[in-house]
Amino acid sequence: MAMERLKLLFFSVPILLLVTPVHLTSNMEPMSLPTDKLLVFTVATQETDGFLRFMQTAKALNYTVKVIGKGEEWKGGEVSNSIGGGQKIRLLKEIMPSYADQEDLIVLVVDSYDVIFAGGPEELLKKFQQANHKVVFSAESLIWPDKRLADKYPSVRSGKRFLNSGGIIGYAPYISQIVQQWELQDNDDDQLFYSKIYLDPLQREHLNMTLDHKCQIFQNLNGAVDEVLLKFGTERVRARNSLYDTLPVIIHGNRNTKIHLNFLANYIPNAWNFKSGCGICDNDLFDLSKVKEYPTVTIGIFIEQATPFVPEFFQRLLNLDYTKEKINIFLHNNEVYHEKHTQRFWEQNRNAFKSFKFVGPEENLSQGEARNMGMDLCRQDESCDYYFSIDADVVLTNPKTLKSLIEQNRKIIGPLVTRHGKLWSNFWGALSLDGYYARSEDYIDIVQGKRVGVWNIPYMAHVYLIKGETLRSELKERNYFVLEKLDPDMALCRNVRDLTIQREKDSPSPESFHMLRPPKGVFMYITNREEFGRLISTANYNTSHLNSDLWQIFENPTDWKEKYIHLNYTKIFTENLTEQPCPDVFWFPVFSEVACDELVEEMENYGIWSGGKYIDKRISGGYENVPTDDIHMTQINYEKEWLHFIREFISPVTLKVFAGYYTKGFAMLNFVVKYTPERQPSLRPHHDTSTFTINIALNSKGRDFQGGGCRFHRYNCSVESPRKGWSFMHPGRLTHLHEGLPTTNGTRYIAVSFIDP
Ligand SMILES: *[C@@H]1O[C@H](CO)[C@@H](O)[C@H](O)[C@H]1NC(C)=O
Ligand SMILES: *[C@@H]1O[C@H](CO)[C@@H](O)[C@H](O)[C@H]1NC(C)=O
Ligand SMILES: *[C@@H]1O[C@H](CO)[C@@H](O)[C@H](O)[C@H]1NC(C)=O
Ligand SMILES: *[C@@H]1O[C@H](CO)[C@@H](O)[C@H](O)[C@H]1NC(C)=O
Ligand SMILES: *[C@@H]1O[C@H](CO)[C@@H](O)[C@H](O)[C@H]1NC(C)=O
Ligand SMILES: *[C@@H]1O[C@H](CO)[C@@H](O)[C@H](O)[C@H]1NC(C)=O
Ligand SMILES: *[C@@H]1O[C@H](CO)[C@@H](O)[C@H](O)[C@H]1NC(C)=O
Ligand SMILES: *[C@@H]1O[C@H](CO)[C@@H](O)[C@H](O)[C@H]1NC(C)=O
Repeated sequence: MAMERLKLLFFSVPILLLVTPVHLTSNMEPMSLPTDKLLVFTVATQETDGFLRFMQTAKALNYTVKVIGKGEEWKGGEVSNSIGGGQKIRLLKEIMPSYADQEDLIVLVVDSYDVIFAGGPEELLKKFQQANHKVVFSAESLIWPDKRLADKYPSVRSGKRFLNSGGIIGYAPYISQIVQQWELQDNDDDQLFYSKIYLDPLQREHLNMTLDHKCQIFQNLNGAVDEVLLKFGTERVRARNSLYDTLPVIIHGNRNTKIHLNFLANYIPNAWNFKSGCGICDNDLFDLSKVKEYPTVTIGIFIEQATPFVPEFFQRLLNLDYTKEKINIFLHNNEVYHEKHTQRFWEQNRNAFKSFKFVGPEENLSQGEARNMGMDLCRQDESCDYYFSIDADVVLTNPKTLKSLIEQNRKIIGPLVTRHGKLWSNFWGALSLDGYYARSEDYIDIVQGKRVGVWNIPYMAHVYLIKGETLRSELKERNYFVLEKLDPDMALCRNVRDLTIQREKDSPSPESFHMLRPPKGVFMYITNREEFGRLISTANYNTSHLNSDLWQIFENPTDWKEKYIHLNYTKIFTENLTEQPCPDVFWFPVFSEVACDELVEEMENYGIWSGGKYIDKRISGGYENVPTDDIHMTQINYEKEWLHFIREFISPVTLKVFAGYYTKGFAMLNFVVKYTPERQPSLRPHHDTSTFTINIALNSKGRDFQGGGCRFHRYNCSVESPRKGWSFMHPGRLTHLHEGLPTTNGTRYIAVSFIDP
């Protein structure tokens, strides 16, 4: 769709349809130049993302652009060669004679792959007029490509001294005279050619040429990144050169400043501003509600390290709102610990999908190899429309994620996911000089959702969508994930950004790449237009437990709560959910079924039950008056986590039901009790050594056991139908003498804590 509209632009007559009335601004000033006398040329052999962006800014500001060289094979220099660009002049030389007799025609020649417009045609012409020359070249402070020419440049008191050929504006006959002098090869250097003409004093005077020393019109970013700041207006965003206090009309991300240009172009001229937010996010959307059949997606799933909450990850994947028959699965698991999870997922779902390929740890694939393999599956399958790569540490809480990304219609786009409550996310807004993380000035605002949009960024990881056609064209080479010593995601992003940099050992440093090579770099976007989900922390994941996720209460509290806390727990505080079956015995839901099951499994797995003996070496004093058949939390190394659970989830309930009582959640005795007719079926009446006690039922009466319950003597009151996952909370001493009623069949488990002894 976007292509169609752009083609209309390419083939429109290179004369502006827009006619601005000519008017006198004051008696002293000359007449403004009418914008229908402006002709914009750019040489572009390919419709790269950079080119499309250039055209978008041109359209937003009402420029009409004549594109030359489209479809021509690029001959303007070898990729690994540091000079080139002559092809651009040759093409201009061919086309200029047809305009050379129009004396009042003003021609702007700009690059497009790494250029954006910041100001409109009227402003451009006014500034050109103020420059009072027939031809104005853009200027920069670094000389290129021949440093020996430096002395020949006229000195300037203030401003940029050297010529840059990325932007030229001048009267048609003069521009024509300049380019007619070209006799060199396509891969010869254009900047050197223009420089030599400019540096010839006779020609400089005769052709009335100057440089835009103070960036009135052209801003080259190389060597000037720190001078250029965003300036937010009410309608448009500009770049301001803070050195000369100018607002350049054209911004050129020459040499290795393309990432910075990408940053500026996330705002300029109408991409995003504070007043109206994103101005381009709804351009070229792909409406999935209009398609007969959903596109085919290959989902690459990567478990490259031990990762908490993998079963929940798979469940969310199944909950994605998308037709399963249109999904191919590639699953790589590198961890023996997760084989039980992946095996179960595979067995239960392999037939639900279009296809399912599963590679386990026994294949001993490196992460890079595995990621290459997943990407290749889509690349080599013509029917694969999208490749969706997702790591197991991504918690996609938004089931529409896949659809939303497809609809946003970019070659590469990821959903923003962040570590809960942290500034850690799956993208970088900027790169340091050595290619690692640097914080862009908008990073925090994007992560916190204060700026919402679709952002062109230099690095992303964990989860992203790539178009299949992009994999088969711009990204058709393979093995993107393996590069030098970089981690696989960094390798991918580097490869995508710098598509033209050949991966040769002796490739020259980025410094030496000339701006005129045709950069094919594919833009990578991150969107925060919706809330998509979060990232799990894989640090401190001890997989030596049977149910290791139980231990994640500190590292991943949000996911821990989602998995282990009862769904209705929060209703304790919002609705009157707490019950009071006996005086001052409060009863409320706290654990999920899974929490109960896994805790019991851990205890049975540990297996050393105390046997209900009076002599007990585990407690101080070594003697227990009312012994139960139990295992202490300390014995399974769960003490710290359990106390944290009490502070986080029990203390708030205490405050609610025993108004004014603040507990710090101090508890020495925390244990799971097992009642069974064969061993210990019941417990005689007793007080607890606690200010209050909690007692959580870990399984279900009727299903797992018969009998059981608790009786409070003072009130002649029993609770005989404990509910799994629900807890009692009652005073421990004096008032609440209680006994455990006999379990007559099966096994009953409860978790008990004596709090504030
Ligand atoms: C571009 O032109 C259209 C119609 O000619 C006009 O409505 C719009 O305001 C112009 N935009 C700018 C930025 O000048
Ligand atoms: C250059 O051209 C301008 C008009 O465009 C004229 O005013 C100026 O005198 C010329 N300068 C030279 C050195 O010829
Ligand atoms: C797995 O591969 C690594 C290097 O790629 C090698 O050092 C190791 O011996 C391999 N292990 C097995 C079990 O094949
Ligand atoms: C992991 O858990 C096991 C079993 O509880 C324990 O022995 C080990 O010390 C733990 N490892 C770490 C690094 O905490
Ligand atoms: C939560 O409470 C609602 C009624 O408020 C009930 O229908 C639902 O079954 C409860 N959920 C669970 C998991 O017990
Ligand atoms: C809360 O529910 C209990 C019964 O479960 C009832 O006795 C009590 O009056 C209710 N309190 C409020 C404030 O509704
Ligand atoms: C306790 O309550 C039961 C009925 O729930 C009753 O039969 C019994 O007599 C009561 N015992 C005392 C001591 O009040
Ligand atoms: C005891 O439980 C088992 C299974 O848990 C069941 O088969 C049996 O019928 C139960 N016995 C009684 C007397 O309820």
